[in-house]
Amino acid sequence: MTVRFTLNGRAATWQGAPVTRLAAALRQDLGLTGTKVGCDAGDCGACTVLLDGAQVCACLMAMGQVEGRRVETVEGLAGGNGALSALQQSFLAHGAAQCGICTPGMLMAATELLRRTSTPSRADVEDALGGVLCRCTGYGKIIDAVMDAAPRMIAAPKAGAAVGARIPRVDGLAKVAGREAFGADGIPADALWIRVVRSPHARARFTLGDLAPLRRRLGAVLTAADVPFNGFGIYPDIKDQPVLADGQVRYRGEAVVALVGDRDTVRAIRDEEVPIVWTPEAPLFGIDDATAPHAPLVQDDKPGNLLLAGGVRRGDVNQAFKACAAVAEGVFETAFVEHAYIEPEAGWAERVCDRIELHVTTQTPYMNRDEVANVMRLGPEAVRIVPTACGGGFGGKLDLSLHPLLALAAWKLGRRVACVYTRPESMAASTKRHPARVQAKFGCDADGKLMACDVTAAFDTGAYASWGPTVANRVPVHAMGPYAVPNVKTWGAAYFTNGPPAGAFRGFGVPQAAIAHEAMMDELADALGIDRLELRLRNALRTGDTTATGQVLKHSAGLAQCLEALRPHWQKAHADVAAFNAAGGERRRGVGIGCMWYGIGNTSMSNPSRMRVGLSPGGALTLYNGAVDIGQGSNTILAQIAADALGLPVSQIALVTGDTDLTADAGKTSASRQTFVSGMAAERAGRDLRQQILRLANAGADAELCLDGTTLVVRDGGEVRTINLSTVGTLVGEGSFDPPTTPLDADGQGVPYATYAFAAQMAIVEVDLELGTVRVLRIIAAHDVGKAINPTLVEGQIQGGIAQGLGLALMEEYLPGRTENLHDYLIPTIGDVPDIECLLIEDREPLGPSGAKGVGEPGLVPTAPAILGAVHHATGVRVHRVPLLPHRLREAIRARRT
Ligand code: FES
Ligand code: FES
Repeated sequence: MTVRFTLNGRAATWQGAPVTRLAAALRQDLGLTGTKVGCDAGDCGACTVLLDGAQVCACLMAMGQVEGRRVETVEGLAGGNGALSALQQSFLAHGAAQCGICTPGMLMAATELLRRTSTPSRADVEDALGGVLCRCTGYGKIIDAVMDAAPRMIAAPKAGAAVGARIPRVDGLAKVAGREAFGADGIPADALWIRVVRSPHARARFTLGDLAPLRRRLGAVLTAADVPFNGFGIYPDIKDQPVLADGQVRYRGEAVVALVGDRDTVRAIRDEEVPIVWTPEAPLFGIDDATAPHAPLVQDDKPGNLLLAGGVRRGDVNQAFKACAAVAEGVFETAFVEHAYIEPEAGWAERVCDRIELHVTTQTPYMNRDEVANVMRLGPEAVRIVPTACGGGFGGKLDLSLHPLLALAAWKLGRRVACVYTRPESMAASTKRHPARVQAKFGCDADGKLMACDVTAAFDTGAYASWGPTVANRVPVHAMGPYAVPNVKTWGAAYFTNGPPAGAFRGFGVPQAAIAHEAMMDELADALGIDRLELRLRNALRTGDTTATGQVLKHSAGLAQCLEALRPHWQKAHADVAAFNAAGGERRRGVGIGCMWYGIGNTSMSNPSRMRVGLSPGGALTLYNGAVDIGQGSNTILAQIAADALGLPVSQIALVTGDTDLTADAGKTSASRQTFVSGMAAERAGRDLRQQILRLANAGADAELCLDGTTLVVRDGGEVRTINLSTVGTLVGEGSFDPPTTPLDADGQGVPYATYAFAAQMAIVEVDLELGTVRVLRIIAAHDVGKAINPTLVEGQIQGGIAQGLGLALMEEYLPGRTENLHDYLIPTIGDVPDIECLLIEDREPLGPSGAKGVGEPGLVPTAPAILGAVHHATGVRVHRVPLLPHRLREAIRARRT
């Protein structure tokens, strides 16, 4: 069929089957990859375009329906001269795009709204953008951008003034223009495609039948026998996850066979056509199954299904509890939680002579390089990872996914090979947040001063180790909360089950533990009649205090300042809530508070980052930055830090990011470490280059630099010296940083982290007592970030973390086989996330760049405790299991009433 239509104001013609989806036609046939595909099922809104001026999901719209109509995509928003629209400019200025994968859909939905009304209310925006999901931003800055859409001039900060400035992200233009290339956007037209056949069983043995007919039909059919070293995993000594299962599967969604061929052919082959004979076995689900006497082993060499356990011991807990005036106890359980990044795993690979190159979405290119090399039995230098833009990660793109299969197929076939996971595949195959069972007991004296805490946290690590050891190590250090407690016993253990591998997810188990320790703090406060904020303040860790691991907090510890900043909001909220509840009825309001601390970087492990800043003979100033920006803004923040250290405007810095051939290893984007660790490396690299320049010019430390083409002017007091860069060769400044930590001994004593972020959040909720529904009305978040390098980006991280914390508390539960799509697995929409006020506390950390720490994970950790505390305040129900779905709360309210 030939379809004639108008595309972004111009006549367009397309030929193909009329059932072809508009999204596929735009992306594959018309070269407009600005329209994104997050689910291909009408659930996420990433593909939103305008059809005759009205928003539609392009993944649902058949080309046959487009005949004679008007289609507008993100590529059409800019003016004829390429100038951004007022809305796009507003998105840039407000920091409304983080990873940017949802941005085109958001922009199109907002464009429709703004054509109807130029002064929309918040409710108008929520209504118009309600069909587009964002997993990064928490929506607040998107709402601000739409309500404030107007052309604007953004002044670039002068040399030395970048740190602390609210500059737009340096990579933001491509995001709002729809030009950002994510994993699925740059796939060469001649690439073969992989489709992975996955296990429908959580635990089974299997045999493969005759694959020859399939092999004749396709380019290749890969099995375990094709993988040179069939194991991968995060830890050097734990490579327990096969690339392709070998006769045995341990979770539903595990990869078994990879079909490689042309795109349409591999997609047309149904799983039933692949000869696999299954022998299902009874799976182990949950910690009780895994630890039951005589439970079968998920992995033969792991007795008791135990992956790892460890803890922290200090003082005498049993004695201390005997002397306590109040003791609180409870058991708290959490579920598997899906990362739900809007961009599914995607990328492509090609063999270049005796090397393999992968262009993939990732948050850890160097780790990917080493892992792929290990699987392929190649040296690391034979593998190049070129990260594409990353459409959200949150820890889920730290593990290998499609990488080894791409490498293997491209290597074997000598062809370019691509793979894009479907949404259900992404959700079934990828790692999850660890389900936890946290048993907690806290005690304090009559003044509310904590005397003892005893916490045992058991985690379901699923079928493979992934980041399980990290969670089991990190949680005991954090499980007492951000409080000074003289007697501590904490224990963390991770158990294998036949659930999906549980890995890294924003917080590494700390959010689960925080639900328990904050409930304990509330219970103690209530038992003693002390205000809940006040009790936390009395116990807050402060500079000079000794933690449960015996570490003296030498520098930044700003929890008390966070709590003091919240205090007036806390008092007003209580008055407001009391007035509302006095009216009676079935709706009740409550106020809750949650605190957290979070060690920045790896736990007691070397954690280095290296950065380079180059100044070429042609005058190009480039930050060679191996840290991947997954939306959190590290590209911008590292450029701001390097620019000020060097003494040139940030606007003059270009970026080379992530490519393992062109950058140095900056470590992974996780553990809230890039601002602190890579930021310090960037600061040192900038300073190093500055020193070289000053030496060349024989100038003093306070000299001012000015770069103009190939001329570098150095003003030192009254003297002006000029360096002709074309005569001095390339100058390269280098910097590295590895935070000072020490190993923990058998009692968990040592220095696990060089610094900690602190935060306190409060939530105001409204509960419908009849329906059991919870509406979060407002959140106020006070975060000690050391120094806000870019306050707009810091707020964006906090707001985005809060949205995910709200999902953890109230709605998100991944159930294999049941919630493997964005229709059944609910994440917060624009209507679910309330107004969020951020209070930035800057308790300077001298080890960090300009005093900065990290904020990626801290935004999420205190949110669920604050919401659950507010529910308790409203209803009297103490929540012991999340997500707090309406039927669970309704049941608990009824039980309490009877
Ligand atoms: S890709 Fe169309 S709604 Fe998700
Ligand atoms: S910015 Fe919205 S999904 Fe990442």
